[in-house]
Amino acid sequence: MAGSLLITRIGELVTNSPAEAGGPAGQGGQGGFALINDAALVIEDEKVAWIGPSARAPGADALVDAAGRAVLPGFVDSHAHLVFAGDRSAEFAARMAGEAYAAGGIRSTVTATRAATNAGLRAGLHRLAAEMLRQGTTTFECKSGYGLTVPDEARSVALAAEVTAEVTYLGAHVVPPEFDGDPGGYVDLVRGPMLDACAPHSRWVDVFCERGAFGADEARAVLAAGKARGLMPRVHANQLSQGPGVMVAVEAGAASADHCTFLTDADVAALAGSGTVATLLPGAEFGTRQPYPDARRLLDAGVVIALATDCNPGSSYTSSMPFCVALAVRDMRMTTAEAVWAATAGGARALCRTDIGYLAPGARADLIMLDAPSHAHLAYRPGVPLVRAVWRAGRRADLG
Ligand code: NIG
Ligand code: FE
Repeated sequence: MAGSLLITRIGELVTNSPAEAGGPAGQGGQGGFALINDAALVIEDEKVAWIGPSARAPGADALVDAAGRAVLPGFVDSHAHLVFAGDRSAEFAARMAGEAYAAGGIRSTVTATRAATNAGLRAGLHRLAAEMLRQGTTTFECKSGYGLTVPDEARSVALAAEVTAEVTYLGAHVVPPEFDGDPGGYVDLVRGPMLDACAPHSRWVDVFCERGAFGADEARAVLAAGKARGLMPRVHANQLSQGPGVMVAVEAGAASADHCTFLTDADVAALAGSGTVATLLPGAEFGTRQPYPDARRLLDAGVVIALATDCNPGSSYTSSMPFCVALAVRDMRMTTAEAVWAATAGGARALCRTDIGYLAPGARADLIMLDAPSHAHLAYRPGVPLVRAVWRAGRRADLG
């Protein structure tokens, strides 16, 4: 954008910046949920330059009249698996007819992904990235994990790096069929040559620590190898049953333990006493008909929560952060404010980002305007496409 832009007459501006409301600012300006009514915001040079009451707004080169609509930070989707081929709608239909979800379903996507061309994978990835943007997601994480050979994982992270800076190497998603009976051999590949090939394109290392995937020692080995290569850890933990995932994540100093559906009191205490965010993925519980994670228990214990889509073809084929916010409010007993915070500032925390997830001077100008007067409409009007406009790094996105 050339010059400055003033968005005025914002009915409700969600800032996540209590400093603006007179309270202390959190990490990088992120604090608790906070908002200003009858507000205005100025964007300059890809960043937020000013926020405050509409009546005191300064002049700018261009003007957008929000006419009472709500403006929020763009959603930060900190957990997604977007590089894949194939379709598992039949598996979903069978689950809805009573079959259980199992980690092994991942293998059918692995077969399709290995068989896909680069162009085919790229087309699917870009389609999902555009879908996310239309629904207000301005930053997303993207994992590998459906290749599970050195070249297929390497091309997965390279493709992911075309669409996001938040690339996660997930070679340790499941043990592929050619390593049946030799999980140790596969872990050696994941923390050796596969890591060498993927580290240059990745910021994060992840492991699916779950019965049917990888155990605690295997997870520790993969995370340690990734850390030694400069990658930061995050963990798929406690999705299908209680287990060691959360403890492994906290021990490793992971930025996030994701899923957190089946937790012991010790897991909750460990998260509360750590810098590890609990990333809840209600799309996965929706898509597998599992009980939702107990967000209230985590919040009451002082755990920082992020909400993300887990967009993937198996357990959670949604790219919609508004849908996840609605589920969290309706079925996980989060307030509308807590859910919106978790989907924006919480996601930023889970990605160790201090430039996004809030709107205050200095923040990256990633913001969305709703066709609604308040953030609560995201849950109050579930399934309705409320995102009217998106700015990413100060530029208005073409939503097609
Ligand atoms: O986060 N839990 C592991 N990975 C995905 C599921 C992937 C799949 O079923 O293809 C998840 O839910
Ligand atoms: Fe996942």
